Amino acid sequence: MNEFSFDFFRAEFERYRVDHPVGTAPKGLYDPAMHLFGLGGKRQRPVLTLAACALCGGDYRKALPAALAIETFHTFSLVHDDIMDAAPLRRGQPTVHAQWGIASAILSGDALLVEAYRLLALSPESVLKPVLDSFNQMGRRLCEGQQLDMDSEADAIDAEKAYFDMIEAKTGVLIGCALEIGALIGGASPERASAFKAFGIELGIAFQLMDDWLDCFGSQDLIGKEIGGDLREGKRTWLMIQLEALSPESYHALIRLESAERVEKGLELLRAYHLDSGLRLLAEDWLKLALNRLDQTGLDALQSAPLREFALQLVHRSR
Ligand code: IPE
Ligand code: IPE
Ligand code: MG
Ligand code: MG
Ligand code: MG
Repeated sequence: MNEFSFDFFRAEFERYRVDHPVGTAPKGLYDPAMHLFGLGGKRQRPVLTLAACALCGGDYRKALPAALAIETFHTFSLVHDDIMDAAPLRRGQPTVHAQWGIASAILSGDALLVEAYRLLALSPESVLKPVLDSFNQMGRRLCEGQQLDMDSEADAIDAEKAYFDMIEAKTGVLIGCALEIGALIGGASPERASAFKAFGIELGIAFQLMDDWLDCFGSQDLIGKEIGGDLREGKRTWLMIQLEALSPESYHALIRLESAERVEKGLELLRAYHLDSGLRLLAEDWLKLALNRLDQTGLDALQSAPLREFALQLVHRSR
């Protein structure tokens, strides 16, 4: 098998993950903590860590603990995000809080966060300091992004810029960090690692734009999440910001509706104003920006080809 294929990295990552469970007893803590790992997920972040390490000339095996740290942190963020978003479904199954209750979901999320740091500390000592710095910065920014996302429900976000700041923080920085840490472990200079991070942040923005698209126009069976959750929760996504600009009356009538009706009417309005295709085009623009960043990573066209292909597939996904 080609060592540079993402399928290879995904398989290697899964092997390592299965060999390193978070814990077993007490079951009340670890069953909810382990729940999401067993239900799949795209594993895009940890494979980017392994790929960045290898592309910078390192042995990807040295990045396995950091890759699992990134996925474990992601899992923690999903468990708490689902509480914050009152989400019923994740990866095709009831969310952790829906199944075990909010208290257990908070605590098992905490255990995942601690486990992520334990794993990260297994990274090679020579790069431990910059790796930890990157991870800490990311963790703060992600929490800030999640707060901005909640503030937006109270109508605090009134501009596209604020929306992009929010999605960069809640989603872009974790994908950026996954790449930066992999590059650092692979022996990249701080400058080169930053170029990988910049690519990841913009890819993450394109990815979150498509996540918002899928929330409205995707298939529940494929994405394994409730369709219309953002509309139900009154999130100020790019779609809503545009709708308000195009038709303030429709927008204000919409947000006054009761949640089930709001989802149905909202989807109808977004389609009527062609915002479904507008959002796809915007995601393409951010994907292009991200791909242009690859020129600064010091990879030649042949070396960066798998990363380009991976980015395209991620943004063009249906799940
Ligand atoms: C979900 O991330 C959270 C977002 C930032 C949109 P993913 O879509 O990568 O979730 P999984 O890991 O594949 O389930
Ligand atoms: C997720 O944003 C960001 C984080 C989990 C940090 P969303 O709330 O849109 O993610 P999904 O759609 O629930 O996966
Ligand atoms: Mg959510
Ligand atoms: Mg959320
Ligand atoms: Mg979403």
